[in-house]
Amino acid sequence: MITRNEKETIDLGKKLGSLLEKGMVIALKGELAAGKTTFTKGVGEALNIRQVINSPTFTILKIYEGDLKLFHIDAYRLENSSYDLGISEYEDEGITMIEWPEYYADYLPEEYLEVNFKYIDDDTREICFKAHGDKYMKIAEVMEC
Ligand SMILES: Nc1ncnc2c1ncn2[C@@H]1O[C@H](COP(=O)(O)OP(=O)(O)OP(=O)(O)O)[C@@H](O)[C@H]1O
Ligand SMILES: [Mg+2]
Repeated sequence: MITRNEKETIDLGKKLGSLLEKGMVIALKGELAAGKTTFTKGVGEALNIRQVINSPTFTILKIYEGDLKLFHIDAYRLENSSYDLGISEYEDEGITMIEWPEYYADYLPEEYLEVNFKYIDDDTREICFKAHGDKYMKIAEVMEC
């Protein structure tokens, strides 16, 4: 998918948010400013989260309350430290979205949805979806349409 401004990325996140079920885990890959947090804002809208979702770079984990709980992780500062946030035991209670999942690889579940963000130019991003596990296959298909 190509998005041509911030709003289109939020809208795409909203679409994903409407398809998610409790316990699902989303890994958001892509360089700095690729749009991972922007996309998460859209998921938050779909979940009727009223708080502002912002980049939790210095916080690592933020928990938002909506129709479902949203666990928003930014693993950037973990820098491959293999630090366990202990979130796996709560994953079933909501949706988990992980920015910089490469730095949290030891604690990713076997099955998750991967979303790849590619910076094309200032306003344009390419966003691709890849299912890891059967449970995410249908969602990845729908999101690519
Ligand atoms: N099509 C687009 N989709 C998303 N963001 C866009 C787009 N065009 C421009 N932008 C801008 O790019 C920036 C994306 O920032 P965002 O915080 O979402 O990135 P990030 O991937 O979370 O980065 P980080 O790794 O630093 O957390 C925002 O400033 C946004 O306004
Ligand atoms: Mg971010």
